[in-house]
Amino acid sequence: MQDHAMTPKTILRALKGEVLPTPPIWMMRQAGRYLPEYRATRAQAGDFLALCYNSDLAAEVTLQPIRRYGFDAAILFADILLLPQALGLDLWFTTGEGPQLSTVTDAAGVAALRGPDAIHDTLAPVYETVRILARELPAETTLIGFAGAPWTVATYMIAGHGSPDQAAAHALKAANRPVFQAIIDRLTDATVEYLSMQVQAGAEVVKLFDSWAGSLQGTDFDDFALAPARAITAALKARHPGLPVIAFPRGAGVRYAGAHAATGADCVALDDGVTPEWAAANVQVAGCVQGNLASRHMVTGGTDLVRETRRVVDAFRNGPHIFNLGHGITPDASPDNVQMMIDTVRA
Ligand code: CP3
Repeated sequence: MQDHAMTPKTILRALKGEVLPTPPIWMMRQAGRYLPEYRATRAQAGDFLALCYNSDLAAEVTLQPIRRYGFDAAILFADILLLPQALGLDLWFTTGEGPQLSTVTDAAGVAALRGPDAIHDTLAPVYETVRILARELPAETTLIGFAGAPWTVATYMIAGHGSPDQAAAHALKAANRPVFQAIIDRLTDATVEYLSMQVQAGAEVVKLFDSWAGSLQGTDFDDFALAPARAITAALKARHPGLPVIAFPRGAGVRYAGAHAATGADCVALDDGVTPEWAAANVQVAGCVQGNLASRHMVTGGTDLVRETRRVVDAFRNGPHIFNLGHGITPDASPDNVQMMIDTVRA
């Protein structure tokens, strides 16, 4: 096992609870359309999915923001919807419309899904991307693997597309709880296998993206956001002792308090719906946090960007913190604003 006290990797040190003088930095969607070099490589691949399944080019776009900015972590370039595709669903991206999938809404659909071990043929190029990155990343850069959390992935599988309120998934949960629960359980098992293979290929940390956790109310939040995250985290840590896990129950609001204990994650990623001062007092007390500058500052820049970046750094100064945005950087962001954010954090 790695001796984390000796590692030059600041992200791993923060994940172990170390308070660093300058927080390590990475950004959600750091390899993305705001970068001209990303757009060029995506054009070379043909389209987004072709890029995800082309290991050399996926590794290339993962490395682009590391070369340009020297981020402390690289996140594997892939998508949370590759897993439902590997489970047997059709997946396609139409420009301007976001992802579309064939759907699962009944027992026959669940029965037709591939088993948790049958996903690896489809996902083999993703594991190869991880192996390339493990070889090529600078010694100080941490490699983060990821998957979507079961609830968030289920919302796409049930609706066949993204939706602002996840209405189709909420409706199935109300109308046919056994089928809904079966989808969550199948995703939980498959996610453990998927992330475990990423770790075997060289991912040093894994992150679970629960982008739509915020629409789960009451005990649904416990049952479908916290419980699957806890099950996945426990299974991964049993197989890979010491593996750091980041949970991102986006939109959790006050329910961010207690999320470390409820998920077993080493780090809780915060969106910008909570203030950094509140989160320092109520979430960071339990362990490392990641976040949470509003991503619109990467579009608008200026003195607001500098002031709000300093505010996040200052609020989390006394505990373990990984600087990040509250959600992914958007295509209209300016690469210069990203540099200004980094310079402000490291000043
Ligand atoms: O953060 C990273 O840089 C790692 C790669 C990554 C992508 N998607 C690449 C991507 C990660 C971690 C994701 C996660 C993801 N994918 C989530 C959870 C995080 C979140 O943003 O809430 C979700 C919900 C998805 C599903 C998905 N994929 C959506 C809704 C979209 C947007 C469609 C659009 O046109 O805006 C995607 C596409 C996608 N995934 C892009 C990237 C860089 C843009 C596609 C492109 O290049 O055309």
